[in-house]
Amino acid sequence: MNLFIKNIGQLITVASHGERVKTGAQMRELHIHTNVSLLIQNGLIAAIGGSEMNPPDDIDVIDAEGRVVLPGFVDSHTHTVFAGSRENEFAMRSEGKSYQEIAEAGGGILSTMRATREASKRELYRTAERRLNDMLRHGTTTVEIKSGYGLSPEAEMKMLEVINELKRDHYSTIVATFLGAHAFPPEYKEDKQGYVSRLCDYMLPYVAEKKLATFVDVFCEKGYFDLKMTEQIILEAKRYGLIPKIHADQMNAIGATELGARHNAISVDHLEKTNEHGIAALKNSQTIATVLPGCSLFLNHPYAPARSMIDAEIPLAIATDFNPGSQMSYSLQMMMTLACTQMRMTPEESITAATLNGAAALGLSGEIGSIEIGKHADVVLYNVHDYRHIAYHYAVNHVWKVIKNGVLLDF
Ligand code: NIG
Ligand code: FE
Repeated sequence: MNLFIKNIGQLITVASHGERVKTGAQMRELHIHTNVSLLIQNGLIAAIGGSEMNPPDDIDVIDAEGRVVLPGFVDSHTHTVFAGSRENEFAMRSEGKSYQEIAEAGGGILSTMRATREASKRELYRTAERRLNDMLRHGTTTVEIKSGYGLSPEAEMKMLEVINELKRDHYSTIVATFLGAHAFPPEYKEDKQGYVSRLCDYMLPYVAEKKLATFVDVFCEKGYFDLKMTEQIILEAKRYGLIPKIHADQMNAIGATELGARHNAISVDHLEKTNEHGIAALKNSQTIATVLPGCSLFLNHPYAPARSMIDAEIPLAIATDFNPGSQMSYSLQMMMTLACTQMRMTPEESITAATLNGAAALGLSGEIGSIEIGKHADVVLYNVHDYRHIAYHYAVNHVWKVIKNGVLLDF
């Protein structure tokens, strides 16, 4: 829990005045200290100092040898717990089938639902644990995980229990989101409103009472949950003290972003099809825009208008959306490359979006997301000497060492 890191070439703190989220031009200010040391005590950031700062007695010392140090990445949108895999759909898309066509033919979310319903809790735990370990190796120290592949009370609760066991056991900080409204299960194919009632009258109160999730998410999209259903679910969720998030404007702009902004969703995520109405609504709200560029790459969909959003001073986060259907990578380093090359974000903006603003999208930016005195010591050392190299030299893992809550992880 106590560590001293010396000879840091660039310490990218991201914030230095306790900012809880950054917008506009602030997103480019990374508050970089060069040639410094970092003192970690009791799992927290204790001091940043120049070469004159000496390590206290009896402390482990890491010599960074001029390397770059960043706050641990915060992946604020993932579907890390699932069974099975869908390389068959990946191959189908390579031959021209679309994500929607595959879903309509019974694949997509329902295919993972079938595998997840059949899987034991132990199997779901083990596979997710391996993925979380890999995420840590890629520099991600906080992960939001959604349910949403159970779609029945039993299977959704099974997923949430696994997420909560991982939260208890794993080194990473885990945040649980209830996504019962991810798709309509086959049992309710002809009675969609019936499923929404089941969600509102039975599942939401249970999730809240057992404290199984912090957030509630809805896939608001043509053919999935419409605006009225989404509104009903998020209003009901709020009554139980659950905080709303929305999968919005992924394939069609049907007003989900505006709805999220109106109801104070903590974030609206995806936004590939967001138009000027969505941008205007976000501008007048506290809601964070979370963009998922890996999804656009993987499905060959358009990219979210991140540049316009940042220019409009909307707080913006980047996440992976790691899931077996639409985004099978958990590298936020790679997402930063996509942000810079496909969405015209700068390397600095992409780092802020994957750290402090990701933490804000989980309500955790008072504790993590930047390297500031008193915050958790989630600190990642990279094998590079200029932070811009991380997104520039892409599709490789630049992580050298990972420190989570002051503990140097051993992998
Ligand atoms: O965020 N859009 C809806 N949900 C996921 C995809 C889930 C799946 O295909 O399994 C997403 O992209
Ligand atoms: Fe998603």
